[in-house]
Amino acid sequence: MKLLITGGAGFIGSNFIRHMIHKYPDYPITNLDKLTYAGNLDNLKDIEGHSNYRFLRGDICDVKAVSDAAEGVDAIINFAAETHVDRSILEPGSFIQTDIYGTYVLLEAVKAQGIKRYLQISTDEVYGSIEGGSFTEESPLTPSSPYSASKAGADMLVHSYWKTFHLPVIITRSSNNFGPYQYPEKLIPLFITNALEDKPLPLYGDGLNVRDWIYVSDNCAAIDLVLHQGRDGEVYNIGGGTERTNIEITEIILRELGKPGDLIRYIKDRPGHDRRYSIDSSKLKSLGFKHQYGFEDAIRNTVRWYSANEWWWKKVKSEDFKRFYKKAYGEIEW
Ligand code: NAD
Ligand code: DAU
Repeated sequence: MKLLITGGAGFIGSNFIRHMIHKYPDYPITNLDKLTYAGNLDNLKDIEGHSNYRFLRGDICDVKAVSDAAEGVDAIINFAAETHVDRSILEPGSFIQTDIYGTYVLLEAVKAQGIKRYLQISTDEVYGSIEGGSFTEESPLTPSSPYSASKAGADMLVHSYWKTFHLPVIITRSSNNFGPYQYPEKLIPLFITNALEDKPLPLYGDGLNVRDWIYVSDNCAAIDLVLHQGRDGEVYNIGGGTERTNIEITEIILRELGKPGDLIRYIKDRPGHDRRYSIDSSKLKSLGFKHQYGFEDAIRNTVRWYSANEWWWKKVKSEDFKRFYKKAYGEIEW
């Protein structure tokens, strides 16, 4: 299979490229990435010289860049997106542009070039919050933030290209990922790296919001399975099956690092903050999927990875990152 992977210099995309190169060394892979603040070629240093891998810097909103990169590929897997909820609250414009318009440009390329498979990497956030039980693929979309609304808009568009043009599209909706190379604006890497630096851990609201955590390698394996065995026109939820409150996650990180509880700062809640995410992954399991990583081991590995790879995250926590921090968490003295 010849693959075009968009957004492959980000967290999940880079883990997915590594997974694919090791498992299918004969698959030619092109990585098209704009290298926004979240894109980082350091994430792929170990495979950049691989003979079947090439990197192209480009924007999924750029019709020519996409159509050139897509030439002759068998499948496109779209990871490219603006992804951070807090940034979408402060500056939503780029979310609408990349997550919706960019998806449209990719779908048009699939249509024009007769590409045989298109995978849209979506999120459980499109369903919104749920107090009890779990969302299935049939549940309505009720997104809460400009980020999740832009992802839901993209999902709708993908679905419309299936209904109207019979394009061979599939959507995956995964729960919260964690693991190596995650930009340290997201809960787990932010709290690990802040704790390592003895900086405050800003916990929104009462700290009791619940997320369903999946180790990134398990998500990559699930996407690989759906790429090869999923059915056109279908949606597949990819959950971790590990629901934890934010305070539980925080306590695990502090315990693993031997840091004190007084690093925690309860701050004003995130506007529109979803209380709980939970998805039912039975449909994925019916394709034969099984998790390979237990949550406790995976989070311990993750804490160890950030502890051992300061070179990676110290570079990422740059001046631009600090500016965002000040804007997002104005009430905290860093
Ligand atoms: P990320 O923010 O780490 O990486 C996004 C990547 O997309 C970056 O490399 C960035 O440079 C690139 N990009 C952004 N705009 C682009 C554009 N216009 N053209 C080309 N490249 C562009 O994101 P992530 O956490 O790896 O998420 C990847 C995908 O998975 C996203 O679509 C996200 O919505 C989805 N997702 C993420 C999670 C999670 O927990 N991280 C969970 C479910 C779904
Ligand atoms: O559910 C999948 C989604 O998970 C992905 O689609 C998104 O791209 C990804 O960003 C993530 O969204 P969340 O908002 O759930 O992730 P985040 O890491 O930002 O926050 C996780 C929880 O932790 C959430 O309840 C908010 C809380 N939080 C987060 C940060 C960054 C804090 O309390 N303090 C913080 O500083």
